[in-house]
Order: sequence, then structure tokens, then C-alpha cells
Amino acid sequence: MKNGTKRLAGIIGWPISHSLSPKIHKFWLKTHKIEGEYLPLETDPEHLEYTLETLFERGFRGANVTLPHKEEAMKFMKFVSPQAEKLGAINTIIVHENGDLEGRNTDMYGFTENLKAASFALKSDEPIVAVLGAGGAARAVVAALQEMNFYEIRIINRTMDKARRLAEDLGGNINIFEWNESEKAMAGAELLVNATSLGMEGQPPLDIEIDALSDKAWVADIVYAPLQTELLKRAAKRGNKTIDGLGMLLHQARPAFKAWFGVDPEVNEKLRKFVLEKE
Ligand code: ATR
Repeated sequence: MKNGTKRLAGIIGWPISHSLSPKIHKFWLKTHKIEGEYLPLETDPEHLEYTLETLFERGFRGANVTLPHKEEAMKFMKFVSPQAEKLGAINTIIVHENGDLEGRNTDMYGFTENLKAASFALKSDEPIVAVLGAGGAARAVVAALQEMNFYEIRIINRTMDKARRLAEDLGGNINIFEWNESEKAMAGAELLVNATSLGMEGQPPLDIEIDALSDKAWVADIVYAPLQTELLKRAAKRGNKTIDGLGMLLHQARPAFKAWFGVDPEVNEKLRKFVLEKE
């Protein structure tokens, strides 16, 4: 590696000004007194190949990959982890000592760890989960739920074709529902997950009834801005336990930090507060 002694990692995306990843990794670098940097690598689609090809010679141990490159970047990896292969997208790159690039996807891990941290556990013999959405984020959520051994995964999505494709790609115990069939899909579910971008700041609201959901069910949102989405507020009001989306973001960052900097960092209240602080 050519670049000084500082260990370098970064984030490749376009744009990346809204990304919280630099705050997360900087917090951990400081906490663990590691001489390192986590840098923004703003890259438009035309320059993606160049950015990836030059990571090694610029001394990077790795990088995160975010929109719009999560799928395209995979083509430039020498190695791809099974989870990334399954999802058809990467969010983390490890630069090996000989310069080879390895692509991983830690979104499934982030989602699962967030549920674990909230002490979510399956209750019935044949647990059912309802998922709103069938985009890239929903793919990671559904794949993670499959590993948790849900008996049935019900996907509710506006565009049926997209839901169908997701179900075909991931296989197994998935059933798909139209948006206007959401009540039917929620009935009997132990968990409801919003894996759409609806309800996020700057996006349309998530306009869906949850009355068909048992008040014993849990409700998780992958949206973290705002932290308490309208969905989570409504769920909490009717007695459902809720899980916000920030934890998924924080936990997906852990394996990357460990691979680049050699320490498995902690997700705690101090980090959550730091990341949420407006600058
Ligand atoms: P990401 O990769 O972040 O998941 P995406 O692939 O664009 O982003 O997926 C966004 C999800 O939010 C999709 O499930 C999308 O539904 P469609 O498949 O019908 O597009 C859903 N979504 C976005 N805007 C929506 C809206 N106004 N109403 C209903 N669903 C919406």
C-alpha cells in the first residue's frame, strides 16, 4: 500500500452528502483510537470503474458502496460473498493485500442484528411476517427473514411484477399481495416491516391501515429519518412493539469496520445520539 500509515476507507456513491456512514465510522475510529480516515468518494456512474480500480493504489483498505452503484460495482469485484451474490448488490468492499477486491453485502446482517438487539423473537410454530416493498432494501430484508425461519413471508407491493421477481429470485416461502390486499396480508402476522422509502423525509407518506395487525405483533421500519415514523407512532399507540430503522444502518456498518480496522465496534446509545445530532 502506498499511502502513508493512516488506514483509509471511504464511501462510494453519488451523491453522498446525506450519507451517515462517515459519522458512524469516524465515531468508531475515535472511540478505538485508530489512526484512520473514512473519506467521501463521490463518484458518478461514468467514473465508478476508475474509483474502484484505484482504491488499492491510493491506499484504501476498503469502502462502502451506496446508491446508485450497489449493483454495478459488483461487476468489478474479484470475489463476491454468497449474501451479495444472492442479493445481486454489494454495500461493502474489502481491498485485499494484493489489491484484489472483494464485495460483500452486510444489509441482511444489519437488519437481523437490529431485530436481535430489540429482543425480537419468533413466537408461534408457523410465524408469518408481512413486508411492505419489493425494492433493493426489501430484498435484503426478505433474505434476512428467510434465514430467521419464518414460515411464511408476505410481500405487499404497489408493482406486482417487481414483487413477483423478488419472490422468484429469492425462492421459498414468499407470497405476494397487492397494496389493496394489505389487510389480508397483515392478518396473523407476528411482524410487519416497512421496507419502502415511504414515510422518509422528502418522500410521500406511508398511507396504509394497520388495523388488521394483531396488537401483539411487532412493527419495524427501515426508514430512520425521521426516527419515529408515522407508522411506528401509530403502531406504538395501539400497543405494538416497534423497532426503528437506525439500528439496521448502524449494525450493517459493523462488519465493514471490523474488516478494515480490525475491531468489532459497538452499537450503543452514544453512537445513536452522535449520528442523529444535526451538524
Ligand atoms: P430501494 O432500493 O431503496 O429499496 P427502490 O428499489 O426504488 O428503492 O424501492 C422502493 C420501494 O418503495 C418499492 O417497493 C416501491 O414500490 P414499487 O415497486 O411499486 O415501485 C416502493 N414505493 C416507492 N414509492 C411508492 C409509492 N408512492 N407508493 C407505493 N410504493 C412505493
